[in-house]
Amino acid sequence: MMEIVLATRNSDKVREIRRILPGVGFHSLKNFPQVPEIEENGETLEENAIHKAQEVAVRTGKLALADDSGLEVEALGGRPGVRSSRFAGEGVSYEENNKKLLMLMSGERRRGARFRCVVALAGPGMETIVREGVCRGRIARSPCGKRGFGYDPVFIVSGPGKTFAELPASVKNDISHRARALRKLGRDLSRIERKLKTVSRKDKKDS
Ligand code: IMP
Repeated sequence: MMEIVLATRNSDKVREIRRILPGVGFHSLKNFPQVPEIEENGETLEENAIHKAQEVAVRTGKLALADDSGLEVEALGGRPGVRSSRFAGEGVSYEENNKKLLMLMSGERRRGARFRCVVALAGPGMETIVREGVCRGRIARSPCGKRGFGYDPVFIVSGPGKTFAELPASVKNDISHRARALRKLGRDLSRIERKLKTVSRKDKKDS
């Protein structure tokens, strides 16, 4: 089984990634206390994901996977984007971010938005692989639903026509931006695994 260190200590995220890509041996960064907290101060989701994956790969010497995601609202020129978690200020609650978003969007008829997730896989001696997943929808007029986290109560998903906070986790995990990005990366992992097996068979034969 392929072993990959996740560039996160968030156990919810680790559980979610394991569910989306079964068959891969994912390890939480919790098992690597020598790796310090890595800052997300890039200007784009791509920059943050690549930086985190490469830092963890260098510090552990293993394959490392990182993600970064955000909500991009059309009428706000793509904001809050990379600043989604600190839209209303550093250390604010999800409610405060949602309140700011709904206030900026009050009276706005253009309500299109998307969640975007970027995942990066880095490792010793390989070029970093970057994949993206998008989930389209629109911003609700008021919060609805109790599940999930972050902007889930104010994001109505195209298709189901319900907010992420109204949908069961199993449905969200099938159609979310993170699931889409990770499934794309899953295809790269299968390719890398096949290559590694061929190399190790060849090494055995040659020795
Ligand atoms: P991260 O990439 O998981 O650190 O997410 C950054 C921020 O984007 C979170 O703090 C949320 O505000 C927002 N976000 C990302 N993914 C989701 C989601 O699936 N639902 C709701 N909010 C999300």
